[in-house]
Amino acid sequence: MSDKKRLFSGIQPTGNITLGNYIGALRNFSTFQDEFDCIYCVVDLHSLTVRQNPAQLRKNTYELLALYLACGLDPAKSTLFIQSHVSEHAELAWILNTITYVGELSRMTQFKDKSSKHQDNINMGLMDYPVLMVSDILLYQTALVPIGADQKQHLELTRDIAHRFNTSYSDTFVVPEPFIPKAGARIMSLAEPTSKMSKSDENIKGFISLTDDDETIRRKLKSAVTDSGNEIVARDDKHGVTNLLTIYATLNNITMQEAEKAFVGVSYADFKMAVADIIIETIAPIRELKNEILADKGNLDKVLTDGAERARFMARKTLSKVYKKVGLIQR
Ligand code: TYM
Repeated sequence: MSDKKRLFSGIQPTGNITLGNYIGALRNFSTFQDEFDCIYCVVDLHSLTVRQNPAQLRKNTYELLALYLACGLDPAKSTLFIQSHVSEHAELAWILNTITYVGELSRMTQFKDKSSKHQDNINMGLMDYPVLMVSDILLYQTALVPIGADQKQHLELTRDIAHRFNTSYSDTFVVPEPFIPKAGARIMSLAEPTSKMSKSDENIKGFISLTDDDETIRRKLKSAVTDSGNEIVARDDKHGVTNLLTIYATLNNITMQEAEKAFVGVSYADFKMAVADIIIETIAPIRELKNEILADKGNLDKVLTDGAERARFMARKTLSKVYKKVGLIQR
């Protein structure tokens, strides 16, 4: 058994995986593989909280797994699996539901956002979504959780629930820490730079999908909202320019100051095309590799079977402990 610390993260296989998901989370995943015992999950059960087309959901799930591999996740180093393949996630969520307060869940920003967007479908799952996320994390005795800034509140809830269980029943769960990148933790919409870039945005000009072709990326950048004035600097009153500079700086692995320096005296139009170029340079190879990987379904299924088996072993261990502590009779 490895004595490395455990790391867990997940992405929903919902619609388009965006440049925001990539910069805020996915691109960092492979960098942890040597230092941590990494577990990366495709959280399909979470996706069901918003109505899905079943055939499309199945397709998106394989696509996301292929994307994980194309972004450098190595099944020999990391455990890669689909959430619904390990039933312990849903089982632990039930137990943790009994120590989570309705008030806590109704205060979650993402619940409030999503319920205002999907008023015809404010289902229990949408509200309970964070408890399933808490279970994902706590099942594996996770020490570190790489996420974008929008998931910070869910991590705080995870820590609260872990503490609560540990104090009510004795030490059981590791209390995890978030890993939120210093730059790029909140990439904004290209069309409305005061809102987060989101895969569910109805305005497709607002997000770059990792499957967009080069021409689409250039077109979306051309129409990206900038600000009045012509200076290319990061500033509180320049949301559009600051967002594009952040994308440019993170993808080039340079600081914001270095990015600003590169664009002194440059027009907005040329600046936007330089941003488009670095996006294309980064994601075109990933897109192509993902398509190659996707063509070998047999290999993907093998990765999933192996991953689920490894995950189930770890998850069962924690869940058995939990069942015993709360007073359930062991099977
Ligand atoms: P999801 O699928 O919405 O997003 C996946 C990851 O991408 C980050 N992210 C962003 N980062 C920067 N800028 C953006 N515009 C942006 N949009 C999204 C998210 O913060 C996330 O890290 N609840 C999670 C999935 C989940 C999970 C977990 C994560 C379920 N269980 C356990 C970690 C651990 C979610 O919906 O992420």
